Amino acid sequence: MGSSRASTTMALLLLVLGAIVSVSQGQLQVGFYSSSCPGAESTVASAVRSASASDSTILPALLRLQFHDCFVRGCDASVLIKGGNNNAEVDNGKHQGLRGLDVIDSAKAQLESQCPGVVSCADIVVLAARDAVAFTGGPSFDVPTGRRDSKVSNLRDADVLPDVKDSAQVLRSKFAAAGLDHKDLVLLSAAHTVGTTACFFIQDRLYNTPLPGGGRGSDPSIPDAFLSELKSRCAPGDFNTRLALDRGSERVFDTSILRNIRNGYAVIASDAALYNDTATVDVVDSYSGLLSAVFGPYFRPDFADAMVKMGSIGVLTGSQGEVRKLCSKFN
Ligand code: HEM
Repeated sequence: MGSSRASTTMALLLLVLGAIVSVSQGQLQVGFYSSSCPGAESTVASAVRSASASDSTILPALLRLQFHDCFVRGCDASVLIKGGNNNAEVDNGKHQGLRGLDVIDSAKAQLESQCPGVVSCADIVVLAARDAVAFTGGPSFDVPTGRRDSKVSNLRDADVLPDVKDSAQVLRSKFAAAGLDHKDLVLLSAAHTVGTTACFFIQDRLYNTPLPGGGRGSDPSIPDAFLSELKSRCAPGDFNTRLALDRGSERVFDTSILRNIRNGYAVIASDAALYNDTATVDVVDSYSGLLSAVFGPYFRPDFADAMVKMGSIGVLTGSQGEVRKLCSKFN
């Protein structure tokens, strides 16, 4: 009798704890559309798959899109709104080079014909990024859904996005402002294991870095051989040529980006900065060491957890915001 009462109390306690945890995740839940739009996740996956069949570089672009959506006002699809008078969030220079918005639009169009007004654009962004990770050979993971779309898009809101020139300290504080710690910063920056950067983002690193003795030149932390390689790819004033963020391993989702960062072969300055701060150095080392594949920490599940964490920044749920009919326009 006593033990059955104890187990009932324990069951109730677990129920209450479960409720608290689900509230603290902003009422998102895995499989949110399982009855309201059962084909939601597979439709997004097939839109991503078909876009990548004609252009595989769309996969890293979709992964980046989640970061750019979630860091500005939260994961609310505010980045997808097209203004017309250059006043929408997406017009901010911080979103330079952002692609993949058309893939989200195309998944949304299919979903509107299957289940009108049900699946939010904010969820499509997060699902597409999740699929992009898996399709480049990264981990497959569940993402909770149930986000709603914002009714707001302001040009200046995107000023908060991290910049390639930010120091590790500034990057850490921008991540902290979004509820993410130094470990998330390293894990999520390792998304640069896939994809490319325009030379635009490394011009200053190659030719215009303030030097300790005065004047400007190349970032002295870049090893000589790598500096010549980068300069030969990105001549002064070349903004458009693209080069791999993860030297030697641009298409495969792996930990080589972390070894590149450790060995001085980071391409963009913000990745290099991760090796200038004791806390982030420890994280880079812990995931790039030979033994981590055997004894942990394990990069793939931890990266997936960090993506889920980033995907819950500032979400709108319940009756907040709206579910847009077109991702590029408020209803
Ligand atoms: C820590 C701050 C970060 C900075 C300063 C930064 C900066 C950049 C820059 C400058 C590019 C090149 C863009 C282009 O030329 O098209 C880029 C690309 C990319 N970023 Fe980041 N990033 C950061 C964090 C992240 C995070 C958190 C993610 C996702 C989890 C991410 C995913 C990507 C991906 C996948 C690409 C390749 C895009 C493509 O190939 O089209 N980045 N990033």
